[in-house]
Amino acid sequence: MPRLADKVVWVTGGGSGIGEAAAIALAGEGAAIVLTGRREAPLEDVAGWIRGTGGTAHVQPGDLTDPAAVRRIGEFINREIGRLDILLNNAGININDRHWDKLTPENAQLMIAGNLAAAAQCVTVALPIMRLRQDGLIIHTASMAGRFIGGFPGPLYTAAKHGIVAMSHSINMQECVNGIRSCVFLPGEVATAILDKRPNPVSPEERARMVQPQDCADLILYIALLPPRLVMNEVMLSPTWNRGYVAAIEKLSSL
Ligand SMILES: NC(=O)c1ccc[n+]([C@@H]2O[C@H](COP(=O)([O-])OP(=O)(O)OC[C@H]3O[C@@H](n4cnc5c(N)ncnc54)[C@H](OP(=O)(O)O)[C@@H]3O)[C@@H](O)[C@H]2O)c1
Repeated sequence: MPRLADKVVWVTGGGSGIGEAAAIALAGEGAAIVLTGRREAPLEDVAGWIRGTGGTAHVQPGDLTDPAAVRRIGEFINREIGRLDILLNNAGININDRHWDKLTPENAQLMIAGNLAAAAQCVTVALPIMRLRQDGLIIHTASMAGRFIGGFPGPLYTAAKHGIVAMSHSINMQECVNGIRSCVFLPGEVATAILDKRPNPVSPEERARMVQPQDCADLILYIALLPPRLVMNEVMLSPTWNRGYVAAIEKLSSL
């Protein structure tokens, strides 16, 4: 018997990277997957893969920075499926011009909307559906940048991901009485398309040393399978060859 049979999981950012790998892993355990992202084509590809293995996938594209789109997808899940067991609150962005010398009001708004407001909006529509069953799990993909203030992720990505960490803990504080659990996942560098937005190109050799999307999916599946009496509040996963640490070692040796 698949361990997530009858469960419904909403994966945001499910068309690529961590979300894609996690959606496939969760579907492999029998969960029906609702896939959201702005571009429909990658979502259809992932849905096709899941359906091809006998699973169930619903494609619900939308820009999650738009409250109306978030409401529409929440209503679809509530009305058409009737339950939501897990929200993998994973969609996020970064931009090339991410530092204060390049940021504009428009980009500042985009970074907070795409990395914090969108995720918060998804929580607001997921919680009422989860409360109906007095059960639910939310896993947020934040980042190590949500705990540590460093250089390369950029100031507003860092600020937004700190907000995700705070939001996740606040959900446990308020929703534990409703059987709802929240886990914030803090990856270090993961070899996904988001790296293409780095100001400095990342080589294939560097990508190979990083966390891989499948490593994240394995961890997310483990969290999803924990018994309802347990919550993994916060978890970090990073490459042994952590480029931030390596750069610090090199700098120290030059002082
Ligand atoms: N890769 C890393 O090194 C790393 C490290 C720490 C944390 N993270 C976090 O991990 C999460 C997943 O990223 P990834 O590394 O897997 O990169 P990715 O492949 O670029 O995935 C990001 C996903 O989010 C979706 N998305 C972005 N903005 C959206 C919006 N406004 N509405 C709906 N969907 C949106 C994208 O799809 P569309 O473009 O089609 O909308 C895409 O599928 C992000 O939150 C990221 O910040 C990544």
